[in-house]
Amino acid sequence: MSLQHKLQETAQWIRARISVQPRLALILGSGLGVLADSLEQSVYLKYEDIPHFPVTTVEGHEGALVVGNLNGTPVAVLKGRFHLYEGYSEGTVAYPIRVMKALGIDKMVVTNAAGGINERFKPGDFMLIRDHINLMFRNPLIGPNEDSIGPRFPDLSEAYSKKLLQVARKVAAGQNLKLQEGVYVGMTGPTYETPAEVKMLRKLGGDAAGMSTVPEVIAARHAGMQVLGISCITNMAAGMLEQPLSHDEVVETAVRERDTFIRYMVQLIPQL
Ligand code: HPA
Repeated sequence: MSLQHKLQETAQWIRARISVQPRLALILGSGLGVLADSLEQSVYLKYEDIPHFPVTTVEGHEGALVVGNLNGTPVAVLKGRFHLYEGYSEGTVAYPIRVMKALGIDKMVVTNAAGGINERFKPGDFMLIRDHINLMFRNPLIGPNEDSIGPRFPDLSEAYSKKLLQVARKVAAGQNLKLQEGVYVGMTGPTYETPAEVKMLRKLGGDAAGMSTVPEVIAARHAGMQVLGISCITNMAAGMLEQPLSHDEVVETAVRERDTFIRYMVQLIPQL
């Protein structure tokens, strides 16, 4: 079965179960999944029940597509995502994003937990992603191109929409929410970086490092979707503070900031 055929089957199955046309897709990172609970009139579709959909393996990354209204705006929330470090292929990581596009959605907000590389950042900050550096050395578009999805050689000169960034800045200013901005560096993980790598990433122009987002954004841009990316700086990257990193710390910080995150997203989403 061709990829396009599979996508259509998945999209049809989802469409038969939802009553709104989502305007925007939202991917929620570690500790930020609770936003899905703020949806009204929502339909909860477990990944394992959705035809051709991959299923998540990591603890703390629940897998469900939740479709409903967020402050009056119909959205499709991917609660739980697929990481390369879990052993998924790039195509698998891209699949849910392509399904969003097949559902007629052309905007995506992607959130993640990331380690701060920029010395001005502190744990608990949110960072608007202005651009990324792909140090995963992998790309979901390698292989035969599916022309019905997008072009062979997609342009990434505006991977993160300038227009959506403007809206994100404006809404944050209105809430007196101070946001950082910067370059997200995509690493495969699952190890955190070494202190030497963190120094290198800073020299390369990185502001935060994480293990997701880049393949998803590439898949979204390929399909012509506009992207807004937001990182929760859950920790300072390795070697910046005298303490080892742990997944618990990452999740704890994201959970601690979740009220701020929810307040921001609830106001932001309808304006995107
Ligand atoms: N490095 C990479 N990925 C991460 C980090 C980090 O420090 N924190 C959360 N995700």
